[in-house]
Amino acid sequence: MVNFYNKNIKEELSIKYQVFFDEWYGIVEDILLNEEFQKRKLFWHHYNMSVFDHSVKVSYHAFIMAKYFNANVRICAIAGLLHDFYPKAWLYSKELEELDKSYLSELNTKKPLFKRHGFTHGKEASINYVKFFPYLEDKRITDAIAKHMFPLTIKPPRYKEGIIVTYADKLNSLHELPSLKVISNKVGVKIKKFLLNI
Ligand SMILES: [Fe+2]
Ligand SMILES: [Fe+2]
Repeated sequence: MVNFYNKNIKEELSIKYQVFFDEWYGIVEDILLNEEFQKRKLFWHHYNMSVFDHSVKVSYHAFIMAKYFNANVRICAIAGLLHDFYPKAWLYSKELEELDKSYLSELNTKKPLFKRHGFTHGKEASINYVKFFPYLEDKRITDAIAKHMFPLTIKPPRYKEGIIVTYADKLNSLHELPSLKVISNKVGVKIKKFLLNI
């Protein structure tokens, strides 16, 4: 059995020594202690980071930005934490396979471009969070989660809090990615493969 759940989750968080940590933790503790949410430790986000760790950072940074930009700190902290709470994994994880294969059921299905993860997971997460945290349902949280991939969503977030979550997500994703050289090499290999196959 994969051992992922920690009831002392506070001790596990890399941001626990940051200023305002206690205020942020007080808002999101319920979510962090939820078993389904802790399974995101077994979902890969990009490269070497879990969805859990990525979401904690986005949430904390969105919360800090909300203070600076005079937005709602609670909405930003919650939407930041749940913005990638989609139901199925988009990258393979051995631990997730051991825990429950059904989380990997979307992996090998070929989809048209606009049905792929980047375009759909915001909407999926905006539905999934209500399933597990119905008492948190709020139109600003739903909108921020559903549109966090803007501009891929075409429609921008409707509220200030959604714009903050989108920026916090992009800044963290940029920080987590390897160098632009590695990315351009990966893209180059894909283009080469494509050209060789036509
Ligand atoms: Fe996302
Ligand atoms: Fe994200």
